[in-house]
Amino acid sequence: MKVKSLILMASIIGTAILFFSASTFAGATITDTIKLETKGYESQKGHVQFTHKKHSEEYKAACGDCHHDAKGKPLANLKPTDKVQGCIECHKKPGDKPKGKDAPKLSKQEELEYNAAAFHANCITCHKEFNKKNNTKAAPITCTKCHAKK
Ligand code: HEC
Ligand code: HEC
Ligand code: HEC
Ligand code: HEC
Repeated sequence: MKVKSLILMASIIGTAILFFSASTFAGATITDTIKLETKGYESQKGHVQFTHKKHSEEYKAACGDCHHDAKGKPLANLKPTDKVQGCIECHKKPGDKPKGKDAPKLSKQEELEYNAAAFHANCITCHKEFNKKNNTKAAPITCTKCHAKK
């Protein structure tokens, strides 16, 4: 009887340790939701609430699908505790690319210099591919689904 309860105790403690280390590990995950309000320009359309953690954990987007280095090479081994540069640090021009009939014709590379154009290219490209592949509309591609009304 005594030995049995000792074994029981040991297994309870063991399980507790397992749970504890699992939750410690879970504590080191990426930020849950990021309100995207890049400094350097005023939002015309309303800030985007970006579900960072959901994208990573539920939608299975890899870090390197969004984060890359100064050469554009995906940062595949990024950790939640790493220092991450904001998109604006490289895609430096404020706001969206020029639009309308008088807008200059830009190359893809020149468009990507505009901060919002880089965001759109990242977010909307994946959403379109995902929707097409899965025959769904779950990933938003219309303005107001991402830009909450002000
Ligand atoms: C998949 C989500 C998504 C969709 C869809 C989307 N945007 Fe954006 N947009 C963003 C993000 C993210 C930013 C960067 C916001 C920031 O960091 O401040 C942005 C920035 C902008 C900006 C510059 C900042 C501002 O708020 O004025 C403009 C203008 C803009 N988007 C217009 C549009 C228009 C017009 C559409 C529809 C044709 C659209 N966006 C669709 C995600 C989206
Ligand atoms: C679907 C796109 C996407 C994915 C996937 C993604 N991130 Fe991010 N992450 C972003 C965006 C956008 C920002 C905000 C950048 C900005 O403000 O200019 C950001 C910001 C960050 C930041 C700094 C800001 C903060 O609040 O923590 C860290 C650290 C980070 N990401 C780590 C990661 C790691 C690690 C992974 C993979 C486990 C990952 N991200 C996956 C898009 C993504
Ligand atoms: C350290 C600098 C740096 C940072 C930070 C950075 N980028 Fe980039 N990005 C680049 C470079 C360099 C390229 C390659 C451009 C080219 O092909 O001319 C690139 C390319 C891209 C492309 C085009 C990818 C393709 O396959 O065509 C998108 C979209 C993009 N970045 C979005 C983002 C977003 C969103 C963020 C923030 C989460 C971000 N970038 C952060 C430097 C950066
Ligand atoms: C690598 C692919 C990928 C990238 C990059 C990506 N998304 Fe998504 N996103 C998804 C998928 C997949 C869904 C829908 C999943 C579902 O509902 O089944 C989604 C859903 C969303 C939704 C609606 C559900 C929610 O969680 O709020 C928003 C808003 C959104 N994304 C914003 C963004 C923004 C803003 C960016 C760029 C900073 C971005 N996404 C980049 C794959 C991506």
